[in-house]
Amino acid sequence: MVPEAGLALEALLSRRSVPALQLREPGPSETQTRLAIAAALRAPDHGALKPWRLVMIRGAARARLSELLVSRMQQREPATPPGKLERVRTMPLTAPLVLAVGARIRPDHKVPEVEQLLAIGAAVMNLLNAFHAQGFGAIWLTGGNAYDPAVASALGFTPPERCLGFVYVGSGEVPAVDGPRAPAPADFVRDWNP
Ligand SMILES: Cc1cc2nc3c(=O)[nH]c(=O)nc-3n(C[C@H](O)[C@H](O)[C@H](O)COP(=O)(O)O)c2cc1C
Repeated sequence: MVPEAGLALEALLSRRSVPALQLREPGPSETQTRLAIAAALRAPDHGALKPWRLVMIRGAARARLSELLVSRMQQREPATPPGKLERVRTMPLTAPLVLAVGARIRPDHKVPEVEQLLAIGAAVMNLLNAFHAQGFGAIWLTGGNAYDPAVASALGFTPPERCLGFVYVGSGEVPAVDGPRAPAPADFVRDWNP
């Protein structure tokens, strides 16, 4: 058993996503960010393909991201309500750190594509938990911008790489784990007794 397993489990069991618009300064330090990324890169990875890519968007670059996301959304969906555009504009400005998650999937490999995607999901889960364990809030968001090839290209994802969303990180109050979203194990877990 890993020492401090109780603390690790406590962190896993108390993680919740913090809404992006509630994330504020201070964000994680360089060391804290590197630790979270190191945890992400410890995810299980069939074939050691390392299909994950992460782009850190910090400081002034967040304003560029904000402009990019708003202008792409306006082009794709000209009828977007102003309130929605404002939320998209604001999220990268108030969250101190945004990580764009990218995938480099190898369709020709014997490891199926779905397993490569699952490895990236596991990496992002480690990332979220590592930020939470260090006292930061985070959330993984996708939506039209995440899957817009022009956004991916502007972020430096070159085909066959693609974007799988954004992890927003900052300080923020973690919602309670109980409530309507509390997992009910009996609904999802069963014994197999043939
Ligand atoms: C791949 C992925 C994409 C997601 N995209 C969105 C999204 O675009 N918008 C959203 O409101 N929640 C999205 N979510 C859900 C949130 O990240 C979060 O899990 C949800 O708000 C529930 O909060 P919890 O993590 O505290 O249970 C996504 C989750 C995953 C795994």
